[in-house]
Amino acid sequence: MENQQKVKNLIDLRVQAKLGGGEKRIASQHAKGKFTARERLEMLLDEGSFEELDMFVTHRCNNFGLEKEKYLGDGVVTGHGTIDGRTVYVFAQDFTVFGGSLSETMALKICKVMDMAMKMGCPMIGINDSGGARIQEGVTSLAGYAEIFQRNIMASGVIPQISAIFGPCAGGAVYSPALTDFVLMTEDNSYMFVTGPKVVKSVTGEDISTEDLGGADIHSRKSGVSHFKAENEEEGILLIRKLLSYLPSNNLEEAPLFENTDPIVRLDDKLNSIVPDNPNMPYDMKDIIHGIVDNDEFLEVHQHYARNIIVGFARFNGAPTGIVANQPNFLAGVLDCDASRKAARFVRFCDAFNIPVLTLVDVPGFLPGSGQEYAGIISHGAKLMFAYGEATVPKVTVTIRKSYGGAHDVMSCKQLRGDFNYAWPTAEIAVMGAAGAIEVLEGRSISKITDPEEKAAFVSEKVNEYKDKFANPYQAASYGYIDDIIEPRNTRFRVIRAFQALETKKVVNPPKKHNNIPL
Ligand code: HXC
Repeated sequence: MENQQKVKNLIDLRVQAKLGGGEKRIASQHAKGKFTARERLEMLLDEGSFEELDMFVTHRCNNFGLEKEKYLGDGVVTGHGTIDGRTVYVFAQDFTVFGGSLSETMALKICKVMDMAMKMGCPMIGINDSGGARIQEGVTSLAGYAEIFQRNIMASGVIPQISAIFGPCAGGAVYSPALTDFVLMTEDNSYMFVTGPKVVKSVTGEDISTEDLGGADIHSRKSGVSHFKAENEEEGILLIRKLLSYLPSNNLEEAPLFENTDPIVRLDDKLNSIVPDNPNMPYDMKDIIHGIVDNDEFLEVHQHYARNIIVGFARFNGAPTGIVANQPNFLAGVLDCDASRKAARFVRFCDAFNIPVLTLVDVPGFLPGSGQEYAGIISHGAKLMFAYGEATVPKVTVTIRKSYGGAHDVMSCKQLRGDFNYAWPTAEIAVMGAAGAIEVLEGRSISKITDPEEKAAFVSEKVNEYKDKFANPYQAASYGYIDDIIEPRNTRFRVIRAFQALETKKVVNPPKKHNNIPL
C-alpha cells in the first residue's frame, strides 16, 4: 500500500470511529433528546482542546456472535482536554455502541485516563450513559467495573472527580459515580438505581416508574445521591465547568484565584435589619450569603436535598470558599440526619482540596424525636462534628442568631478549631432556647402556681432573666469563644480580612493510617 493510501485509510478509520454505533443509532440518541458522547465532550471542553485516546480499541469477546460486531473505540470516548485552560481527563460512554455497556476493554480505556489524571494531578470527569455490564462478557465486565471503583477510591481526596449522568446508570455501575465527589443528573433521560423497576416489582411487588425510582428529582431531593440537577445536558455541562472554576486541580494545589471586581469594603446596610425581632420568625439565609460574597455569585451544592442546611461555593476577594449555613427558612434550620451528612461531606471535600470554609450559624439544635434517633442522628451529627474537627483549612464562623446546645458545638465552634469565630449582636449562644430552659429549671416552681395569670407572669419573668443572660453573644465573647461581635453590615470585609489573615495557616493532624469517622 502506498503511503498516501495509508494516510487516507487512517482518515477513513477515524471517520468510522467517530460514527460510533452508526448513523441510525446516533439518530435514535438524538430523537431521545440526548447528545452523543463526542458532542458532549465538545461542549464540555474548551474549543478544539480535546485529544482522543484509544480510538482504535475494540472488544475481545467472542460470545453470542459478538466476534462479528465490533466498533472502533468500543463504547466509550476517552482522552483529555482543557476547561478554562486547565487540563482535565475525561470519558464519555457512547450509548450508540452496545448501549454504552461496559466491556473489559472499555474498562481498560477508562482506567487508562483515570491513571493519567492521577499521575498528572488533573480533575477526572466521567459522562455516564450505559446499560451497565456488557452482558455477553460476563465476569470480565464485572472485573472491569471493580478496576474503575478501585481507582475512584484511590483518587478520592487527590483529584476532583465529577460524574455526569446523561442516560441510564444501573446496577453496580452506580457505584463509580457514587464514589466520586459530585454527581450531576439531568431532568430527563437520567436515572440511577441498583435494581430497576422490573426487578423491584418481581422481588418486592412494588410498582414504580423509572423516574420515581431513580430519576434526577428523586436523587436530588430525596436520596441526596445527586448533587446537581440540570434541566438538560447543555445546562449540566455549563454547571460542571462552573463547578471546576472553584476547585484546584489536585489536593496539593490551591483553587484558582479570580481577579476580584467587587469592593472588599462593601457595607450592606440591609444586613443590619435582616434578622427579625421575633426569634421564631424565619428569614432567608441565602440573602445573607448573596449579600457578602463576591459579585453575588454562589454555586449551591445539593440545592434540593436537606434544605435546612445550605452548602456551596463562592468567592471572597477572588478566593474560592466553601460555605455551610443553617437555613432558618426551612425546618427552622434544625440539624437532622440528612443535613448533618450533607454538610459533613461538603466540609470534608473542602478540607481535602484546600478550600477554606465559612460557616454561618442559625441553628435551634438537633431535631428531636424517635424518627431521628432511630435513623441514627447521633452518628450522623457526629459525622459533621468530626468533619469540622479534623479539618485543617482556614475556618471562619459567623453566628447570626441561634446557636444552641450540641448544634452550637458542631457548627464549627472555637473548640473544634474554628480559627475566627464572630457573632452578630443578634446571636443567642446557649445550652437551649429560653422557653425549654425555664421548663427544665423552674418546672417544679411553675407546677406549684395554680393561678394562670400568676403562672404566666412567673414564666415570663424567668424567660426574660434567661434571655438577658444567654440570648446574646456577650457571655461567649467574655470567655473568648467568640473573637468579636461584629456589625452585620460589615460582615463581608470582616470575613475577607479573617481569611486573609489565615492564608498562611499550617495545621497538621497526628499521623495515622486513616481516621475512623462514624459512618
Ligand atoms: C449488552 C446492551 C446492554 C448490556 C443495552 N444493550 N444494554 N448490550 N449489554 N448491558 C444494547 C441493546 O442490546 C441494544 O442493542 C442497545 O444496547 C440499546 O439498548 P436498547 O434496549 O434498545 O435501548 P433502550 O430502550 O433505550 O433501553 C436502555 C436500557 C436497556 C434501559 C439500558 O438496554 C436495558 O435494560 N439494558 C440492560 C440493563 C441491565 O440490566 N444491565 C446489567 C445491569 S447489572 P442494539 O444492537 O439493538 O442497538 C450490572 C452489573 C454491574 O451492570 C456490576 C458492577 C459491580
